[in-house]
Amino acid sequence: MIESTGKTGPIGVFDSGYGGLTILHQMRQLLPQYDYLYLGDNARAPYGPRSFDIVYQFTREAVEKLFSMGCHLVILACNTASAKALRSIQQNDLPQIDPNRRVLGVIRPTAECIGSITQSRHVGIVATAGTIKSESYVMEIHKLYPDITVTGEPCPMWVPLIENNEYDSPGADYFVEKRIGNLMRRDPQIDSIILGCTHYPLLLNKILKYVPRGVRIVPQGEYVANSLKDYLMRHPEMDMRCSKHGTCHYLTTESAEKFRESAQLFLNEDIDVERVVLG
Ligand code: DGL
Repeated sequence: MIESTGKTGPIGVFDSGYGGLTILHQMRQLLPQYDYLYLGDNARAPYGPRSFDIVYQFTREAVEKLFSMGCHLVILACNTASAKALRSIQQNDLPQIDPNRRVLGVIRPTAECIGSITQSRHVGIVATAGTIKSESYVMEIHKLYPDITVTGEPCPMWVPLIENNEYDSPGADYFVEKRIGNLMRRDPQIDSIILGCTHYPLLLNKILKYVPRGVRIVPQGEYVANSLKDYLMRHPEMDMRCSKHGTCHYLTTESAEKFRESAQLFLNEDIDVERVVLG
C-alpha cells in the first residue's frame, strides 16, 4: 500500500520505450501547465511480442514506480500495456495500492474518436502483435459503434525498425508496404487506419506512401491529449493533485545517455534523464 499524501505530483506517462513520447508531446502542447514524469522501460522493450502475464507484471512495476515518485495519475501511453494490463491494474491492483490514484490508457480515447471519422464504417488497425491478439480495439470500438467493421493487422517489425533508427531507411519500405497491402486486401472498404501503437507516428511518411488515396491515417496523440484534458475537467479532485509548473522529467530502465540520444528522434530539446530499476 502506497500512502496517499496531500502533496501534488506530476502526471506519470509510461511506455515500453520511446513511443509514448509521441503522446507526451501532444499532451504538453495541449496542457503545458502540468508537470510530467515520463518512464520508458527501454531495457525490456519491445513489449509487443511478450505474453499477457509478463506485460502485466512489467506495467504494474512501472505504475508502482511512478506512484512512489509522487504521481497521482498515470497514463499508459502504450497500446500493448493498455491492452494487456490496464483492466487488471484498474480493477485488482488500484484498490489495494491506493484507491485515490488513477491509471488511464490510450485505447478507449482512440476508439471514441473513430465513430465520427469513418464514413464507410470499415476501419483498419495497425499495431503490435500483442495489441491485435488482445482484440482490445475491436471490443472497445464495438461497445461504442457496433456497426463498424474492424480489421487488425499485426506489424511485428515496425517497432524494432523505429527503436533501431531504421524507420526512414529504404528497408522500412518493404515492411510498411507489406502490412498496409495485407490490410487493404483483407478489407478494401477501409477508409480509416488507426495507428494503434505509439511508435508508429514516426513511420507516417512511409505509411502515407502505401495507403490508397482517400484512406485517412489516424494517429492517437491528439485524441489521447484531448481525453486527458476532458478527464481533468471532469475530475477537479484529481486536477488539484496534479502539480503545475510546466516541467518534464524522464526516467529510463536503460542507460540515461542512450535514452537522451534516441529521444532526440522524437523530441527537439535537451532533456533531463535518470536511470531507474523496476521490480
Ligand atoms: N509503443 C507500444 C505500443 O503503443 C509498443 C512498443 C513495444 O512493442 O514495446 O503498443
